[in-house]
Amino acid sequence: MLDEPTIADADYDRLMRELEALEAAHPELATPDSPTRRVGAAPSGGFAPVRHEVRMLSLANAFTDDEVDDFVRKVVERLDVAEPLFSVEPKFDGLAISLRYEDGVFVQGATRGDGETGEDVTANLRTIRAIPLQLRGKGWPRVLEVRGEVYMPRAGFEAYNARARASEGRIRPLVNPRNAAAGSLRQLDPRVTASRPLAFYAYALGAVDGGALPERHSQVLARLREWGFPVSPLVDVARGEKGLLAYYARIGARRDALPFDIDGVVYKVDDLASQRELGFVGRTPRWAIAHKFPAQEQTTVVEDIIVNIGRTGAATPAAKLRPVFVGGVTVTNATLHNADQVARLDVRVGDTVIVRRAGDVIPEVVSVVVAERPRGTVPWTMPAQCPVCGSDIVREEGEVVARCSGELACAAQRTQSVFHFASRRAMDVDGLGERYIEALGEFGYLETVADLYRLTLDDLLEMKRRADERDGTVPETAKAGKVATKWAENLIEAIDRSRGTTLERFLYALGIQHVGESTAKALAAWFGELALVRHLPWPVLKLVPDIGDEVAKAIDAFFGQPGNQRVIDALLARGVRIRDAHPPTPKLRAALAPASVLERMAVPKLTAKRAEQLGAAFDSVAAVAAADAGALAEAGLPQDSATAVHAFFRTREGRVLASRTAEAVARLQAAVADAGEVQTGPLEGRTVVLTGTLSALTRDAAKDRLEALGAKVAGSVSKKTSFVVAGEAAGSKLARAAELGVDVWDEARLLEFLQAHGG
Ligand code: IVH
Repeated sequence: MLDEPTIADADYDRLMRELEALEAAHPELATPDSPTRRVGAAPSGGFAPVRHEVRMLSLANAFTDDEVDDFVRKVVERLDVAEPLFSVEPKFDGLAISLRYEDGVFVQGATRGDGETGEDVTANLRTIRAIPLQLRGKGWPRVLEVRGEVYMPRAGFEAYNARARASEGRIRPLVNPRNAAAGSLRQLDPRVTASRPLAFYAYALGAVDGGALPERHSQVLARLREWGFPVSPLVDVARGEKGLLAYYARIGARRDALPFDIDGVVYKVDDLASQRELGFVGRTPRWAIAHKFPAQEQTTVVEDIIVNIGRTGAATPAAKLRPVFVGGVTVTNATLHNADQVARLDVRVGDTVIVRRAGDVIPEVVSVVVAERPRGTVPWTMPAQCPVCGSDIVREEGEVVARCSGELACAAQRTQSVFHFASRRAMDVDGLGERYIEALGEFGYLETVADLYRLTLDDLLEMKRRADERDGTVPETAKAGKVATKWAENLIEAIDRSRGTTLERFLYALGIQHVGESTAKALAAWFGELALVRHLPWPVLKLVPDIGDEVAKAIDAFFGQPGNQRVIDALLARGVRIRDAHPPTPKLRAALAPASVLERMAVPKLTAKRAEQLGAAFDSVAAVAAADAGALAEAGLPQDSATAVHAFFRTREGRVLASRTAEAVARLQAAVADAGEVQTGPLEGRTVVLTGTLSALTRDAAKDRLEALGAKVAGSVSKKTSFVVAGEAAGSKLARAAELGVDVWDEARLLEFLQAHGG
């Protein structure tokens, strides 16, 4: 692609300088078509050629203060003025163009091309709103050529790429704002150009005929502004080398905050007569120079792709790079964000890549130079295991981020999880700051949160001594020893105090993904005991109101990791006690009915209504899982549903889920029964079905009152139904009750019964 670079700009600059130096040393070797004899690229053929009346030149570059010093000294010598005045300007990172106005009307616009001949892109330039089609004010020369830079502001670039990413491949993302500007101008269809967010700054003149202009470049720019051209507000004048370097520093400090990319600043002798006197050497003027900022993009080689584990277990791929100087520092690592990004870029170990580091932003891989790809490379994939702890790396459906499932057992997640564990609203260990948590981990005192509870006074003092030594913060006063001992004693005491906690705090402290304080509170209220909570499969967790699929699965996954279970065992073994343990809530009794559990198991083709039918026909989830398709159909399921349900419970996943769920339900039922024997109601163990319209109370109220007396209220009639309450206009359920010989109550009998039992 024409506007997709094959090497980074910085490499291009370096190679060009090498070639220039070679040709200077050996002029006999320079060829007529050497790239040093050209300015930019030759016209590409799609557009009519435009011969520039006044050549479009290029600028020499300075990368160091010494080179700026050289430039200034030569100007001073040649002009014989002590401190010449310079126009100082940002070096915009876009595409140079020339705009021709005749009698104040825009008639033609061209790219630079090779400096002599460019391409006629008038139609495209007309779509850029910053370019005036008719000059404002008065006094413009009859012919006026204005030169400047077409660029794409960063915001527009980002917005465009956001749309491209959302387009699922229909729109190609732009590589960087500069290539974006160049590519946009070379579109054969001006409507495409018009759809790109382009802008323009004027910075020079070309041919001028029939009219007088000011004597200084800075005054020319001011005049252009009056005539309607955008001129950057960052343009200024400066005197002498000191003034230039101060401007360089001032703009450099603002570089990352600017709304557009710049790659340096430009110094131009301000006096136009002096410019003429200085003239040119080859393709560059002697009166101007570009002082470049450290390149923000460079090419280098990917030596490895590793995975970093973040504080929440997020697995982030990163490229290990052959060291490269970019954005002012030597970079050896660049983020690749996530597996999708790696796939999008198709970065492979061994690839040559363009790396970008802008300001304080983390260096990132921008693109791969595919032409440089060695043989035998393979696409990268996320490893299945955490490189730190070996636990599975899992990526939930629809999630961008893959995570290490090792949680508390993963050293990379340790510091943050301990910090959370000890925080005020969790275990509330007063005085344990992040710095000491890190040091405890680093020096081997803390593998998991459970190790907090075996720290001794000596451990803490030793850790603190080593941390202070490492950080150079060793206190020098005589009583420092005493202060440290007091600190350690207090911390040991705070840790000890935290041993007695509530189930809610404990569950929150574990730092389970998606489990904040309110979910922890609900889990504690519903199940009451750690011994129960720590073994629940997700369908059972979903019985708790407000716990949905995602949260339930996260909790299940957390407790499913043996490492996490070991940590919990260790916490208990080291004296952590849940002081508010209690039996599960009686509400569980109804919730544990087979129908309600089945409904939450996400069995294919098993709707809530069909789960209800199965619940009425079978005693337990285990019985449903064991039933053959015939028995399921007999319970009222349509054939396709019966087949699908049966098939599901024959898969490994289905079998495991059924047995785990059945086991948990049995354990919870036993726990509820133990607790609830004293308060069983008169309808305990009975299943009631409501049908038709009741007059004295709503269906919901009737249901509540029946349940309060221990009944289970079901939605469909089966052999197991104890009795049916039939109101006005009862239909098929009443018929089915008659068919099965099930007892039928009218509303009066129900009301009488409720009254008699205070329900
Ligand atoms: S003056 C004779 N001023 O840099 C000098 N150029 O390598 C003509 N550029 O082609 C250019 N900002 O694309 C000038 N403030 C500025 C500039 C600038 C960016 C670009 C332009 C030019 C290249 C020179």
